[in-house]
Amino acid sequence: DGNYQNIVSETRGKVGLITLNRPKALNALSSALFHEVNDALFKFDADENIGAIVITGSEKAFAAGADIKEMKDNVAIECYKTNFLGHWTDITKVKKPILAAVNGFALGGGCELAMMCDIIYAGDKAVFGQPEIKLGIIPGAGGTQRLVKAVGKSKAMEICLTGSVNLSAEEALNLGLVSKVVPADQLVDETIKTAEKIAKMSQPMTQMVKECINQSFELSLTSGLLFERRLFHSGFGTHDQKEGMSAFVEKRKPTFENK
Ligand code: CAA
Repeated sequence: DGNYQNIVSETRGKVGLITLNRPKALNALSSALFHEVNDALFKFDADENIGAIVITGSEKAFAAGADIKEMKDNVAIECYKTNFLGHWTDITKVKKPILAAVNGFALGGGCELAMMCDIIYAGDKAVFGQPEIKLGIIPGAGGTQRLVKAVGKSKAMEICLTGSVNLSAEEALNLGLVSKVVPADQLVDETIKTAEKIAKMSQPMTQMVKECINQSFELSLTSGLLFERRLFHSGFGTHDQKEGMSAFVEKRKPTFENK
């Protein structure tokens, strides 16, 4: 899409690919950049032909955080009144699965953006960290919340309190922050391959899986299981369930129609 200044948005078959593209600032997440990411995400979310979305940066940087130059003179009351960074959370309202392909630096808001995605694949030289404390501030987009759930309390404390304990790709894999490490130059292709697999499934079902797994962070086990069971039941009202199970019994490949 030629209208974007800070990102490139394109399609690869049934996969929407968003590439953060502010190389001179290591993809620092300016307000303008994040609005463009949201715009591209919601266009893909509304596009029937797209089944999954990949967000990536460059080989040097996924994103080096929120734009420090843009926010350095911020005033608290204005932040409050405008809900500064509030629009960052819009990404969590996207129904289609989002995969982050992280090469290089994923620091501060960059790490937080990756954690707002549903699956993270890392290039072998990726670096994850929350350096905000070194700037005299705290993480503002999930660094103290999602990181704990991904890597546990002690590691999250160490990362956020020192600002300088970063995770290598391998460490991030061992801790469960990312699900795969890939040589840097193959990362985007490898991530798109997984996105393509997801995009071939029934879209209502991949969206229900995403919704259920995300609810596991919000609900008690009993409520979460009930939420899952109800959506599971509703699946039997779809064409795609009939098609999927008939195809299995008839030993053929299913053709899902997203209905
Ligand atoms: N905001 C604005 N500009 C940034 C930036 C950021 N987060 N990160 C890098 N840049 C800019 C640099 O200012 C520099 O610009 P100039 O050429 O105009 O000086 C350019 O990108 C290249 O950066 P470096 O010269 O610093 O590159 P390097 O390879 O020497 O170092 C780095 C790379 C270690 C990532 C270093 O750039 C760095 O420490 N960046 C800041 C990381 C950070 O603190 N992130 C947290 C931001 S706060 C936040 O995200 C809040 C939140 O929770 C939402």
